[in-house]
Amino acid sequence: MVKTKRRATPEHVAIIMDGNGRWAQARGKPRLFGHHAGAKRVREIVEACPEQGVKYLTIFAFSTENWKRTQAEVSGLMMLFKRYLTSETKRLVESGVRVRFIGDRIRLDDALVTLMDELELLTCDNDLVHLTVALNYGGRDEVARATKRLCREVSAGRVDPEEVDAETLAKFLDTYVLPDPDLVIRTSGEARISNFLLWQSAYSEYEFVETLWPDFSRDEFARVLANFGSRERRFGAVLG
Ligand code: FPP
Repeated sequence: MVKTKRRATPEHVAIIMDGNGRWAQARGKPRLFGHHAGAKRVREIVEACPEQGVKYLTIFAFSTENWKRTQAEVSGLMMLFKRYLTSETKRLVESGVRVRFIGDRIRLDDALVTLMDELELLTCDNDLVHLTVALNYGGRDEVARATKRLCREVSAGRVDPEEVDAETLAKFLDTYVLPDPDLVIRTSGEARISNFLLWQSAYSEYEFVETLWPDFSRDEFARVLANFGSRERRFGAVLG
């Protein structure tokens, strides 16, 4: 049977939160000021998910390429993540949000990784909204890491290389427990994927909005979701 699907609301929304730096610069403030404002929006958009019928939200917080930013911005962002995870824990646990992290943890500092592990554990019984935070994440890096793990299984004789297909590889991705995103939103007027969920977004709809991330409100989120509902997704098939 050909896979087709019509949904008024996307089950899984992924967001590239872009424009924090420009938002701050427009106010004559340092870039970190914009990241702090961006962090506040994260809470608002997570809270909007249940009322909008969005079950999975995946956000791009830090890419494998973001290490190329100045030392001050990188350490400021890392500090922000630590502070955010600490201050939001209670709220996330109590509001039914299950938190997961994707990306390579190897380059992240131990204190941050400990907070990430704790938050995953503390929220593991929650099921209202599944929030996935991409931290030190890159789509190509993820596929490379998945391939490495798969190769190990092949060399150990646990996987027959002749049996490997797309589904096999997907089981080794960071996102193996998540459905593919139905909709990917990027703020700030840039129309690029920037190495985000490359494999998983093969059939996703894209929505590029002009608004800078710190200005992306709950209302605008609702409008973008409503726009998704008016589209028809064919997954490569022809609908009758
Ligand atoms: C892109 O804006 C944004 C980032 C690299 C960081 C995203 C981080 C946050 C929104 C902070 C909070 C996140 C969590 C999970 C607490 P940019 O700096 O590239 O903006 P620009 O394109 O205007 O320079």
